[in-house]
Amino acid sequence: MDWQEYVDEILISPEALQSRITDLGTRISHDYAGKDLLLICVLKGGVMFLTDLMRKITIPHGIDFMAISSYGTGVRQSDGIVRILMDLSTDIRNRNVLIVEDIIDTGHTLDYILRLLKARDPASLRVCCLLDKPSRRQVPIAVDYLGFSIPDKYVFGYGLDLDEFYRELPLIATLRPDRYNQFIGQDKT
Ligand code: IMP
Ligand code: MG
Repeated sequence: MDWQEYVDEILISPEALQSRITDLGTRISHDYAGKDLLLICVLKGGVMFLTDLMRKITIPHGIDFMAISSYGTGVRQSDGIVRILMDLSTDIRNRNVLIVEDIIDTGHTLDYILRLLKARDPASLRVCCLLDKPSRRQVPIAVDYLGFSIPDKYVFGYGLDLDEFYRELPLIATLRPDRYNQFIGQDKT
């Protein structure tokens, strides 16, 4: 089905996304100047954000990937059961690690990743997240670089999926409320 059939509204336009990512890239380049920066992208949702952000970071940096699944009972819930689907290929000890994530919802996923990576002794560990739904938080998370704070609505596009589709869209859209029930029971990655 055409993606537009699922859209309630276009929440963030391609232009607004790119402009905000340019700002984040500038700040990160400034803050990490002279440091050994390693971006860690949380798959799959963070992939569009990572590749655009990299092009706005003007200092040398490495990248690595990790895949996490938050086993939930549908698009509305994460019950805190998080598992690693794919671990890093890099040793992060003594490196300045910046986690690049698509969205913080309950906070369980990032809480898990932060605790896991902290135990590996990086020189520093920070979070860069494109979207935040603060009203849904169950675990407190400090976000160092945030793109947009958004309302409690299911969103898709720009890396975020609707049943594994539409990650390729250059924008963030909200899901039509009458389409919700179709997507109950999906794991979140
Ligand atoms: P949390 O553990 O509840 O914070 O969930 C975080 C993960 O759930 C994110 O990394 C996303 O992959 C996924 N997620 C949460 N909200 C949405 C949404 O509105 N659209 C698509 N994926 C979402
Ligand atoms: Mg994610």
